[in-house]
Amino acid sequence: MRSNKLLLLLGVILLLASCKKEDEPAIVVIDTTPYILNTYDLPLPQIAEDNKLTKTGVALGRRLFYDKLLSLDQSLNCASCHQQQFAFSDTSRFSIGVEGMPGGRQSMAVVNMAWNNNEFFWDGRAHLLRDQVVKPIQDPLELNLAMATLLERLQNHPEYPNFFMAAFGSSTITEELLGLALEQFCNSIVSGDSKYDQFLAGTASLTESEERGRTLFFAEFNPGFPDISGADCAHCHAGKNFENDQYMNNALDADSDMEDLGRALVTENSSDNGKFKVPTLRNVALTAPYMHDGRFQTLEEVVQHYNSDMVMSSTIDPALIYPLNNGGLQLSDQDVQDIIAFLNTLSDETLVTNPEYASPF
Ligand code: HEC
Ligand code: HEC
Repeated sequence: MRSNKLLLLLGVILLLASCKKEDEPAIVVIDTTPYILNTYDLPLPQIAEDNKLTKTGVALGRRLFYDKLLSLDQSLNCASCHQQQFAFSDTSRFSIGVEGMPGGRQSMAVVNMAWNNNEFFWDGRAHLLRDQVVKPIQDPLELNLAMATLLERLQNHPEYPNFFMAAFGSSTITEELLGLALEQFCNSIVSGDSKYDQFLAGTASLTESEERGRTLFFAEFNPGFPDISGADCAHCHAGKNFENDQYMNNALDADSDMEDLGRALVTENSSDNGKFKVPTLRNVALTAPYMHDGRFQTLEEVVQHYNSDMVMSSTIDPALIYPLNNGGLQLSDQDVQDIIAFLNTLSDETLVTNPEYASPF
């Protein structure tokens, strides 16, 4: 630790020295001080070995995330569609890009990405986070800026070349380094301090309604025994992050009504028609509207969908066929309210107020 600090100090001195004498070549100073991720009580995250979080890397990624230089007319940034107050999602059904044109899908909550280990986007078309994060920049419906133009903007900026030097040891800014910096910041956004987490840690207690909702959420559907029959949500929204890294069809549309084929657009396999990433339910009360196309405005509509409005199709998840053929989940109004009360306990006030994730500008 001490020698780290010494090296850092030395680095700063060298940088200062190199600024003074313009004729001398700049001295490469990387600052690899690790960024310590607060993972609360979550399992160990999967951070890529070749892009470990450093303080300078995360800080650079954060700055890029909030910099409007990244959009064609400098009017938008990543945070326009991934707002901290909404758990890094946004409230429009289809996020509006620079041309004022909506995209075809609802924004996803960029939270706990470090635990996401099966591709990115609703359809999983991006393999690694670093590939994902540079796509919205060039997407005509999002930031709509040619990569070459962006790299030129950053290269000519008074500060960015030095920031890249400190984070990656090179002041030549490339698409790859840009992706690595944004990947680091996205990986640093962690949610693990909801009321539910506190309940698990024994520092908060659930109300009667929240507790009933919790039981219903986790219990299996069992129409023969109505007293213990649950909604089986955890069948797919599983584990500490309430997701399962899979692509599934949760009975939204019949085959002929699927406007967006989802996962099948990537795999080109019709058995994936209408399958989408099982999203995390952490902070779900903050991330309306819901589903890949934002079709539901409220959690009540979502729970009613599973309760009574599911639609049969050739790719529906098998777990949903059973309730579908048995007259739905048969949840009472009180059950629905209790499940919603439980979902509300997944909101994390620390995440939405943490200054480390806010705009540095
Ligand atoms: C115009 C709105 C908009 C902007 C700007 C935008 N995003 Fe997104 N983001 C979305 C939408 C919509 C999706 C889902 C897209 C899809 O599945 O096709 C998404 C998905 C993502 C995901 C995938 C999350 C997951 O769980 O798979 C990440 C990560 C992400 N965005 C990061 C970024 C970064 C970094 C930037 C800035 C470089 C950015 N976004 C800019 C709207 C936007
Ligand atoms: C068979 C797997 C499965 C089961 C069971 C399931 N879900 Fe889902 N859930 C999904 C998938 C897949 C999506 C995304 C679908 C899409 O966007 O098209 C989703 C989306 C959601 C969303 C929207 C999240 C967002 O960010 O837009 C909520 C809320 C939700 N589910 C809650 C529940 C609840 C509550 C239950 C139990 C009553 C439940 N789910 C049961 C697979 C499932």
